[in-house]
Amino acid sequence: MKTKTPKIDGNPLMNPMVRMPRYNPEQAKPLVHQESVELQPFGTIVKLPIGLGEKVCRESIERLNQILADTMTLRDLYHKHHWQVSGSTFYQLHLLFDKHYDEQAALVDKIAERIQMLGGLSYAMAADVAENTTIPRPPRGREEVPVQISRLLTAHEIVIQKVRASARKAAEMMDDGTNDLLVSDVLRTNEIQVWFLAEHLVDAPLVRAD
Ligand SMILES: [Fe+2]
Repeated sequence: MKTKTPKIDGNPLMNPMVRMPRYNPEQAKPLVHQESVELQPFGTIVKLPIGLGEKVCRESIERLNQILADTMTLRDLYHKHHWQVSGSTFYQLHLLFDKHYDEQAALVDKIAERIQMLGGLSYAMAADVAENTTIPRPPRGREEVPVQISRLLTAHEIVIQKVRASARKAAEMMDDGTNDLLVSDVLRTNEIQVWFLAEHLVDAPLVRAD
């Protein structure tokens, strides 16, 4: 007698002829709360093959981390003022501070990633930034617009002075990548932001000439 061939169903789960691998629920569980020793402790260098000596990398990493801590502080100072600004120039300053915040945030990423390229580790967390920045801490409360702008200008100048000195040092050490980042990105962005801020502190007549 001829046996009947079972009908193949399109769905393999419904097909008794298809053997499915055994389902292991443990495999699908996320492995949370894991701990381990650090892969690379802060302050150490794991050199990448970029043709720079360890001494040069170390010097640039230390300088860049200082500039990073100050740039992160300046970035956050812009957000504070973006939120707390008041008065008749509220709208334009609210937008300007936000624009500068975004530009400083982009610099933070570039500086931090340069540190990683040099084999170092960049500051990342607010507590580390607070401990290492050289920019004076502002009060938590709201300040008047001229004070907000003065505070920003002071912070910019602190950054700019460090950036110029570090760019020169990087050039002397043939660390051209760091020099280019500091001059083309960090210095130029800070200088133009200073210009846009400083013009707000000129006591020029608004409607009637003196
Ligand atoms: Fe906003």
